[in-house]
Amino acid sequence: MLILGIESSCDETAAAVVRDGQQLLSNVVSSQITTHMPYGGVVPELASREHLRAIVPVVREAVTCAQVSLEQVDAFAVTQGPGLAGSLLVGITYAKALSFALSKPLIAVNHLEGHIHAVLLEHRQSTNAEIALPALALVVSGGHTHLYLVNRSGTTQWSYQNVGHTLDDAAGEAFDKVAKLLALSYPGGPIIEALAKYGNPHSISMPRSQIKAHEKRRNDVGDSQRRYDFSFSGIKTAVLRFVETNEMRSSIETRRHALAERSNPQPEDFLPQLDSLTLDLIASFQEAVVKDLVSKTLRAAESLEVESLIVSGGVASNRRLRSEFLKQAEMEGIKIFFPSRGLSTDNAAMIAAAAYPKLLARDFATEYFCAEASLALGA
Ligand code: KG4
Ligand code: ZN
Repeated sequence: MLILGIESSCDETAAAVVRDGQQLLSNVVSSQITTHMPYGGVVPELASREHLRAIVPVVREAVTCAQVSLEQVDAFAVTQGPGLAGSLLVGITYAKALSFALSKPLIAVNHLEGHIHAVLLEHRQSTNAEIALPALALVVSGGHTHLYLVNRSGTTQWSYQNVGHTLDDAAGEAFDKVAKLLALSYPGGPIIEALAKYGNPHSISMPRSQIKAHEKRRNDVGDSQRRYDFSFSGIKTAVLRFVETNEMRSSIETRRHALAERSNPQPEDFLPQLDSLTLDLIASFQEAVVKDLVSKTLRAAESLEVESLIVSGGVASNRRLRSEFLKQAEMEGIKIFFPSRGLSTDNAAMIAAAAYPKLLARDFATEYFCAEASLALGA
């Protein structure tokens, strides 16, 4: 069974062909990073326009690379949400048109479910086996920092229980905002990761969020659920306070001007513009976010007694985060799985993979289904 997946929830237009939820035949991603870079974040109106420009060639390239024709595809899958409404609509409208014109089923996929299935897909592809369940999945990206308890009944029914999330900024959002504050490039994660290795991660103390695992009422009958929440606004504010206290504003503005002319500045362009105090701040910020994500997730995995840990989403491509997770998970004896770096950030292979059990269950969307900017995953 061939599924063509389409993803357009934020600033990447992507299409991919996946066979039987386990064999990646093509994976095309067209990034809009250079469009949004001058603004230090995604501009929704520009994002929709760029998706419109890219969607036809990206889908065409995905079928060409997979060496299949559109007629051979068994179903089309598309991200329904969460994401930017105007961006989602481009992918959804195109997928609906393909499904209608070719009389093939259409499958609506939650973007967060997709990030989890990126890991399941690659594990199946490389080992021909399934990841042991129940698993705890940390989806950590620019819009989300969510913990899900993942399970499956039968071959097609996946369940996701939300057991924690960030109470303020997503971890990726904190990377992006700190990068903007320090006049680094957008998105913030990759440039902070690249520059952090030149600073001392232990030189500046950052506050650890004080949120402990806690019970929360789920309904009127008094059922409660243990929650494992995150918070990153304290770390972000600590960076801002450090900048003010150490009077770093003028050097930040000098850097901003010096690099304003570059369309896609690289770490080596930034390095001559950064003093050791700023590099220490960058390294200490990354270390604080990494330590917080790893310690809270492992505490949750331990108390939920899961078989595996899955870490996915854009921030999961961070090497320091991966090495700390690997070290701590090994110490705790928990098996941990990441997507390849290419499937960590937004892509359509994850959408096609998440759609496969829905295709088997004939869980199809009608032509009336709509984009849902705040679509939640699971209970
Ligand atoms: O999953 P994704 O591509 O899009 C969303 O669904 O949000 O994640 C994008 C986010 C951005 O905030 C970006 O700064 C962050 O992931 N990111 C990283 C790294 N690469 C991307 N954060 C830390 N380290 C990285 N290497
Ligand atoms: Zn994402």
